[in-house]
Amino acid sequence: MSEVGRDSKDWTVVDEGWGREAVDFSTLSEPNNCREYVAMHHFVRVDAGDRLLDVACGSGLAIELARLRGALCAGIDASARLVAVARFRSPECDIRVGDMHDLPWEAGAFDVVTSFRGIWGTTPDAVAEIRRVLRPGGRLGLTVWGHIKVSPGAWALAPFRLASQEKVDNQASMVSLGRPGAGESLLEACGFVDIRRVEVPFAWEFADPEVYARALASTGPAYEAMQNVGPDAFHQAAVDQARAQVRDGLPLRAEINVVGYLARKPEEDAQK
Ligand SMILES: C[S@@+](CC[C@H](N)C(=O)[O-])C[C@H]1O[C@@H](n2cnc3c(N)ncnc32)[C@H](O)[C@@H]1O
Repeated sequence: MSEVGRDSKDWTVVDEGWGREAVDFSTLSEPNNCREYVAMHHFVRVDAGDRLLDVACGSGLAIELARLRGALCAGIDASARLVAVARFRSPECDIRVGDMHDLPWEAGAFDVVTSFRGIWGTTPDAVAEIRRVLRPGGRLGLTVWGHIKVSPGAWALAPFRLASQEKVDNQASMVSLGRPGAGESLLEACGFVDIRRVEVPFAWEFADPEVYARALASTGPAYEAMQNVGPDAFHQAAVDQARAQVRDGLPLRAEINVVGYLARKPEEDAQK
């Protein structure tokens, strides 16, 4: 999926794509990611009193769930309208609008950093920033899209390919961190240790094709598709895509391959 403002230079325009339908995103799309959030919080052992930062936190459901485990949470996202929802949900947390490539916290401020499909192949520099704000021995848990084409739920992401050819061509590099060895190499190059790849459960579920189409339309990549073909054509394509998946008496379900990476900043940190 190509994405508005993914380049660090133009992060300020991210809100055009991701923030336009912040209420739909936070209520129709983001709750579907709950399996991923719960699994990663478990893998990274989020515990009471942990100072946790969620990078590219979107509308902050993962922060809300980490709070339930007793973590003291902070978050950052480039979309002001998604951050407004995240703050509404967790008013006591330090949630900021900003760029993941320039984190506005001091070195060593966090015990745990998470990021859910926020760090992609085109954002590797953000990993160095994450390392800086982790304390020595601090834990990292991040997820990236895996092998989408072989996923049973690949149909659910197919309408994003209605974006211009240039944007669609960009998709491969954006999902490259999910390839075997790619994330491990990046984390190692950034000085992380104890790097582990884990399988992360990920399934979107929707009541019907209309709800699916509305949820999908609230995302950043959908914005680029709509810019190319218009909102009506995007909506129709999404509804048509989902109709083929309807099973009597069951929700629409799209299981998608998502990869998790766990890592640790060394206790003895030469780079600091
Ligand atoms: C795939 S969404 C994931 C959002 C959230 N983690 C979730 O699980 O729903 C990608 C997020 O990255 C944010 N984003 C894009 N570029 C960014 C940047 N340079 N700095 C911070 N956030 C950025 C977008 O606003 C969007 O919320």
